[in-house]
Amino acid sequence: MCGIVGYIGQKEAFPIIIEGLKRLEYRGYDSAGVALFDGNNLNVCKTKGKVADLEEKVNKSIPTHGNIGIGHTRWATHGVPNDVNAHPHYSNSGDLVIIHNGIIENYESLRKELTARGYEFTSDTDTEVLVNLIEDVKLKENLKLGKAVQVALNQVIGAYAIAVFDKNKPDEIVIARLGSPLAVGVGDNEFFIASDASPFIEYTKNAIYLEDEEMAIIRANKDIKIRKIKDDSLVDPYVQELQMNLEQIEKGGFDHFMLKEIYEQPSAIRDTYRGRLLVKEGIVKMAGINDNIERFLNADRIIVVACGTSWHAGLVAEYIFEDIARIPVEVEYASEFRYRNPVITNKDVVIAISQSGETADTLAAIKLAKSHGAFVFGVCNVVGSSIARETHAGAYTHAGPEIGVASTKAFTTQITVLTLIALKLAKIKGEISLPEFRHHLQELELIPEKVQKALESEDHIKMIANKYKDVRNCLYLGRGYNFPVALEGALKLKEISYIHAEGYPAAEMKHGPIALIDENMPVVVIATKKGHYEKIVSNIEEIKARQGKIIAVVTEGDTNVQRLADYVIEVPETLECLSPLLTTIPLQLLSYHIAVLLDKNVDQPRNLAKSVTVE
Ligand code: AGP
Ligand code: GLU
Repeated sequence: MCGIVGYIGQKEAFPIIIEGLKRLEYRGYDSAGVALFDGNNLNVCKTKGKVADLEEKVNKSIPTHGNIGIGHTRWATHGVPNDVNAHPHYSNSGDLVIIHNGIIENYESLRKELTARGYEFTSDTDTEVLVNLIEDVKLKENLKLGKAVQVALNQVIGAYAIAVFDKNKPDEIVIARLGSPLAVGVGDNEFFIASDASPFIEYTKNAIYLEDEEMAIIRANKDIKIRKIKDDSLVDPYVQELQMNLEQIEKGGFDHFMLKEIYEQPSAIRDTYRGRLLVKEGIVKMAGINDNIERFLNADRIIVVACGTSWHAGLVAEYIFEDIARIPVEVEYASEFRYRNPVITNKDVVIAISQSGETADTLAAIKLAKSHGAFVFGVCNVVGSSIARETHAGAYTHAGPEIGVASTKAFTTQITVLTLIALKLAKIKGEISLPEFRHHLQELELIPEKVQKALESEDHIKMIANKYKDVRNCLYLGRGYNFPVALEGALKLKEISYIHAEGYPAAEMKHGPIALIDENMPVVVIATKKGHYEKIVSNIEEIKARQGKIIAVVTEGDTNVQRLADYVIEVPETLECLSPLLTTIPLQLLSYHIAVLLDKNVDQPRNLAKSVTVE
């Protein structure tokens, strides 16, 4: 999610805020806005587009004087990027303004309740609901802003980092966080608020990082009071002196965006299933599917169109849709599909997968499918992107901005969305029993912590990378659900280390590729305990017999493969259909560390672009 900046002190707020928003530019965004208090009036300006567009618009439209203000760069989750949906958002009275990073899961029910009480909404965002909930609590119970925020947040389900300002109490800003980062820069009689320290590091190195479920009331020329949202208890502020430089802060302390995004996968997967995976209720909630359920149930087949890593996610979808929902699936390279004069009918459902939502070949494939009457469903990571707008319906991944060219968290969050769809359809079609369905939901809910566990093998993987960084070729093998992961692992190695790598179904080895095996050919084999385990072990033995070097991804505790492989990397056990979400993690880390050891430009590999908007 994107960026928050605020200031309260003796300096002019606007220059600090606008430069701070530029510092958060690396987080990607689609719109931006500021709220400034000039001593008499609360002045708000916001716009779709870049921070530079906002700066130009502000200088033409509102007074920029004032010592207190808040600013926001939006990465839309609810409501397309436009001026109205940009933050800050006013409450109905116009007294309160809010900026927010995150997702309010129960915003629909809150919006219904507030509408019934006469509140009106101008935007499509969940954030505008939150600021009116705060106002409703404040007015009903005659509370100060801080207390109203605390009471309101106890009614909220979701993730947030917020800053709220009341024009009738213009000497304080109230902030709070759950699941999205929020830092306070502590200056000399001044405070800075930001999603990370990059906006204030030049002014102060003294920072307080709010913990989850904490809020703070920051008062001009006075102090900061930190409280627990749950019970309003006071928390002693812990001020730390930052040692990081600006570049390190932008990357969250990681050396590259790619590594930061690999480590963001537990939270990205959690954000993607937030509000959709309701384990207690035993349901998968997806409006885009519900509203078009007949199209899916009556479809002759599902055609997946995508490119690159998104195409690999589509291959995983083929396995899970056919295996669990019993729906025929074909997976097409969008670039081939659009030109091969395919047979498409109005009984087809097309699922278009794209992180950027701007890939030209995928967009063209969508338009072709629509021209033949097919129903097109999008899985994108950028709200309001071209593909998101071209499709009939869709479900966003909530991975947050993916800056590294090599796609990582987009892949796992795409699989998360596709798995939710497959489970939902399987349940409706009666292809899965209720206990089995519930078991799948419970296992999916555990995936983020299992991904976190898989990430703990990084040092071991770094050691393996050092052994194999000078190879010229590499084979990746997998079976079943993990065949697409083998392809994805090979793509990762190719695109950031420039080492030639191929992914293959493990059983295909005997139809030719095994001729490549000798002591100079490293083979990465995904050999987790689920599905075809015995057969993949036989494939490993075939490779071993020809002196191939074997790096095996295994289920934790597996000692059988250990005796055959040169190196093993363990991942936690899970259901076979969920295993790609775990087995891909070591392959991402392996390619990352080999590329770093080869001193490659990991975040911007040669010849590549993050979004291929040309044919
Ligand atoms: C994957 O690491 C590459 N960055 C590339 O293959 C990418 O997946 C492909 O260009 C598709 O992009 P999209 O998901 O934005 O459509
Ligand atoms: N959910 C909010 C919106 O869509 C905030 C998104 C963000 O984190 O930027 O406006």
